[in-house]
Amino acid sequence: MRPRGRPANRESAERPELVLAGRAWYHGRLQAIELGIDEAGRICTIGRDRRGARRHDVGDRVLLPSASDLHVHLREPGPPDAGETIATGTVAAAVGGVGLVGEMPNTDPPVTSVDRLEAKAARVQGRAAVDVLLYAAAQENGPLAPLARGAGGFKLYMSPTPGIAAGPEGPALARLLEELARFDLPLAVHAEDPGRFVGARPPVDPVGWDRARPAAAESAAIDHLLGAPDLLRLHVAHVTSAAAAARLRARGVSCEVTPHHLLLAARRGADARFKVNPPLRSESERAALWARFASGDIACVASDHAPHSVASKSEPFARAPSGVPGVETMLPLLLARVGSGALALPVLLRAACDRPARILGQPVGRLAVGHRANLLVVDFRARTPVRADRLRSGCGWSPFEGMAATFPTEHWRDGRRIVQDGEYVGVPDGAVVRPEYAPGETAPRPRDDGRR
Ligand code: NCD
Ligand code: ZN
Ligand code: ZN
Repeated sequence: MRPRGRPANRESAERPELVLAGRAWYHGRLQAIELGIDEAGRICTIGRDRRGARRHDVGDRVLLPSASDLHVHLREPGPPDAGETIATGTVAAAVGGVGLVGEMPNTDPPVTSVDRLEAKAARVQGRAAVDVLLYAAAQENGPLAPLARGAGGFKLYMSPTPGIAAGPEGPALARLLEELARFDLPLAVHAEDPGRFVGARPPVDPVGWDRARPAAAESAAIDHLLGAPDLLRLHVAHVTSAAAAARLRARGVSCEVTPHHLLLAARRGADARFKVNPPLRSESERAALWARFASGDIACVASDHAPHSVASKSEPFARAPSGVPGVETMLPLLLARVGSGALALPVLLRAACDRPARILGQPVGRLAVGHRANLLVVDFRARTPVRADRLRSGCGWSPFEGMAATFPTEHWRDGRRIVQDGEYVGVPDGAVVRPEYAPGETAPRPRDDGRR
């Protein structure tokens, strides 16, 4: 697993190979911009009047940094009928404007050993359209130090997920968090306390699922986490309530919200396609979460892309697996909200591009000299309804069917185009990446303030 190279040296700074010209959100406003890109595919100049280099002018379309999705499940290794592979899932990411995915360890088998981590890394080589950061399972008595030498981060499940048992509680949880704080890696946590699940009646729809796994379970799990050492790069996955997000923010802990919790509420009688952990909440809770996200007070958006097959999601509610796909539609759905005026562009750029890249220690996510030229071209006038049959994910369905989306027309990776007119045209040269935190971001470090 090779870390990505350091930023190109400054010698190349005067000699852009390519200039991308268009408009961009830069220094607090949307303005005409020219981005010079060097041979190594890094942004080397930002400004106007670049002569000599090859030019690509996108007119009044907008140049954005590509997004980083902290949370996907690509299902490899897994059974042959799994809804996704690294190949299909990363092409879906590329088409949806995501240049880096954080791949979760609950595969079959799960990533609980160095051998399994290395086997998963080998599957990425030559098959991924975008970069992949691999999380390892953070388990009590697991080989944490050897895993930390190869993984891009750890994932802790406080409630069970297929292949991985529920994490420890009480003093054992405190010991695990202490131990994880020794490694300079992000720890993402699935925060639901199974002790607060309600088992009265088997749920038959998303409203029942919300009752069975209430927001109180999330809140209790967060209580257990807030005693974690300050040095731990703690990050709470898929937060569903505005109050929980506010509490984490006040304690300087980063979190993510998902497009499904932002845009979908639990509906009575809806089928198992809308079964997900943590559950979809009530319309009033959803609206409160959206308001908090739109105000810029939630650090990140991440898809929790869980591409279960159509067949498995057609099972009766109680038997069907939990999870919804989303890596391909996350940014397009939110870009459409920017286009309609419901969401401010800088809020989206922070939550989808800048903050996730900082958490994962990657030189992407902002228009900055030295950053990789992983860029998108967006025409905010172009709105299309999500149609599952046009998506590239292998799972073949979407919970967002029919909702307005603005797909990027182009996606550039290290200065080369991998999506053109919305179609994938790249070669699968995505790499396994690991955090490289900038100097000054070393311990002791302030935890996330949600706004930087
Ligand atoms: C995820 C999955 O399918 O792997 N399911 C889900 O409901 N979110 C696991 C997870 O993120 O908890
Ligand atoms: Zn989860
Ligand atoms: Zn997940």
